[in-house]
Amino acid sequence: MSKKKYPKILVGGSEGYIGTKLCELLKKKGYNFETFDINLFSKCLLYPTKSKYKKIFKDVRDIEDDYLKNFDVYIHLPGISNNPVDNFKNKKKIYDITRKYTKSIAKKCKKYHIKFIFASSCSVYGEAKKKNLNENSKCNPITHYSQNKLDIENDLRKLSDKTFAPIILRISTLFGFSPRMRFDLALSMFLVMAIKNKKIELNSDGQSWRPHLYLNDLVKVFEKSIFLKNKKLEIINVGSDINNFKIIDVANMICKLTKSELNFLNKKNKNNLIKDKTVNYGKDKRNYSVSFKKIKKIFPKIKFTSVKKGLEQDIKFIKKINLPKNVLNDKKYFRLFYLSHLIKTKKIDKNLRINK
Ligand SMILES: NC(=O)c1ccc[n+]([C@@H]2O[C@H](COP(=O)([O-])OP(=O)(O)OC[C@H]3O[C@@H](n4cnc5c(N)ncnc54)[C@H](O)[C@@H]3O)[C@@H](O)[C@H]2O)c1
Repeated sequence: MSKKKYPKILVGGSEGYIGTKLCELLKKKGYNFETFDINLFSKCLLYPTKSKYKKIFKDVRDIEDDYLKNFDVYIHLPGISNNPVDNFKNKKKIYDITRKYTKSIAKKCKKYHIKFIFASSCSVYGEAKKKNLNENSKCNPITHYSQNKLDIENDLRKLSDKTFAPIILRISTLFGFSPRMRFDLALSMFLVMAIKNKKIELNSDGQSWRPHLYLNDLVKVFEKSIFLKNKKLEIINVGSDINNFKIIDVANMICKLTKSELNFLNKKNKNNLIKDKTVNYGKDKRNYSVSFKKIKKIFPKIKFTSVKKGLEQDIKFIKKINLPKNVLNDKKYFRLFYLSHLIKTKKIDKNLRINK
């Protein structure tokens, strides 16, 4: 069996929103892979996962060299996957933990010639002055989350050389269903608001641009990246030019598809889970539309799902599963609220370590 054709893959952070879908695909396609995760969100399943594969309960900080060196490719998904909510005292510090462990495992991958694939985010463009930003455009992160992604990208750049060429995927804002679902992502939140309440409540004036990406398409990009023969560090915007939209336009699209109405969030609404603290006086400064020329060239065979088609598929899917009544009031589906609950109840400590 040729090592190139059948690489041995390790997926870290495999039990989250992206990881569960990615591993379903790897399993279905018969890849040789193993996974590890600390299972922060083990109680947050929306519906059962279909596939069975080897799962190791382990913190990325405890992955031993002897284990890691068996792999050809490492896909790194552990991290804090959103912007902080109020109850995190030292917001920057909590992100620095993820930066430190990412750098540490990247160094080990370099040592053992393991390909490193990192889940970054288009949010590094932040408050953009221009449109159609490409991989060489200036980044202007305005949240701790996106600054953390950019810091990690820079760490990887410093580590990269002829022997170590990481792939950095700058992922658009995701939507689409996963067994370990997140409703803290704009489109999925809007969709459930529309279906459950027959109205969408926008946090902002909706004038900001954002690129969107269907989760099923992202996992194909990870699959293709495994085989990319890049000789130097490669940064790739992941998404499609057809899916750059103003928030208000996708909200209106959902209203049309679900026969719902569009409203602006009433300050009196008591549901903190749906309030976006990054939005001030109705303005969301995160405003970026992105160019996806590069990915189209690198992976021409991937056909990206349009936002409309993805939403239509999700509407069908919601009819098939039994969506709990108050999903939008349940912190299980809102990562940072759940994380802060885990800290408060002492399930994890301040270093994001599981309390034994
Ligand atoms: N979902 C998006 O729209 C999006 C977009 C761009 C980038 N990303 C990035 O992709 C990555 C995965 O995103 P997601 O939506 O699946 O997040 P998620 O929070 O659903 O999953 C992260 C997983 O990592 C695990 N984990 C956390 N700390 C760990 C540690 N120390 N050791 C081992 N496992 C650990 C968690 O238990 C969880 O299962 C994140 O870094 C996120 O920032 C996500």
